[in-house]
Amino acid sequence: MIQSTDLITETAQILKDRLESPVSLREPLAKYTTFGLGGCADVFVNVGTLVDLRTLLAVAFSAGVPVTVLGDGSNVLISDLGVRGIVIKLAGEFNTFTIDGREVEAGGSVGMSRLIAETARAGLAGLENVYGVPGSVGGCVYMNAGTRYGWTSDTLVDVLVVQPDGKESLMSRDDLEMSYRHSRLQQMNPAPVVARARFRLESEDSSAIRSRIAERAKARQASQPLNHRSCGCMFTNPGSDSAGRLIDECGLKGLSEGSVSVSGKHANFFVTDEGATAADVRKLAERVRNRVRERTGITLDLEVRLLGEWPDE
Ligand code: EPU
Repeated sequence: MIQSTDLITETAQILKDRLESPVSLREPLAKYTTFGLGGCADVFVNVGTLVDLRTLLAVAFSAGVPVTVLGDGSNVLISDLGVRGIVIKLAGEFNTFTIDGREVEAGGSVGMSRLIAETARAGLAGLENVYGVPGSVGGCVYMNAGTRYGWTSDTLVDVLVVQPDGKESLMSRDDLEMSYRHSRLQQMNPAPVVARARFRLESEDSSAIRSRIAERAKARQASQPLNHRSCGCMFTNPGSDSAGRLIDECGLKGLSEGSVSVSGKHANFFVTDEGATAADVRKLAERVRNRVRERTGITLDLEVRLLGEWPDE
């Protein structure tokens, strides 16, 4: 939907008047993503309180201006043309968590790696199965992020969400219909925003949890190109096979488009150099998909979420 500049400017002014959170115009978004790519948001708000989140969504809803939520930007590809409407990133009170016995309640913008470290320190196990997947709590719930050891859904109890019209509601894990890299939030358009998530963990000796984390960190370091900019795995694994293995088998390591290439270390990672564009990433993804489909008959699905305005849409 094309939004008129006047409507965007008018809505931004209402937000500036009504929110405590900072509102900016034409904000470059590349710095909020692990790829470091993408254009500007028409309006960008670092939302620091639940009250502001509710107000912002209600204002945008009644004006008909779309809202896009960014987590840690580790699983998104933002178009070079940027994102129309309002882009929000949670901060402030959404960046805090509490531990009560075996229950942990964390705001949507808490980094999952920080939460894993803190719960391990407190002698609580379960979240470390997601260790190594970069992302915020909200992003991990939305994507049901995980590794071969387990997924976000394994320990999730429920989430407090704010609906597109600004009303709060509680969604249980069952309501979220979570499966491999999927939650129902992905089908809801516009999706509710995850304000907080509650997890139930198991008590275990802290040093045992930490040694599992150290072991997994070592394996990840050995198999993934962690010193390059990427967005983690580009494609979801098809069934019980591995997208990385398939791309590798097709001889595509090192295939490039502009300054983006298929990693030589792990074929399901695309890594970027100076001068890379989001359009190059997308073109390379299409070429890889086509080559894998021709060679194996398997069609890979993108794990990375495409955000913003794309020329072909
Ligand atoms: N493989 C190759 N060539 C490659 C890459 C992998 O032959 O270039 C082989 C490996 O040798 C292994 C198999 O493929 O036998 C699976 O590879 P790996 O153990 O690296 O796991 P993966 O299925 O590629 C998944 C998650 C990762 C997560 C790892 C570790 C997906 C799409 N990826 O990768 O998650 O870190 O397991 O648990 O589910 C992410 O989602 O962004 C992500 C990095």
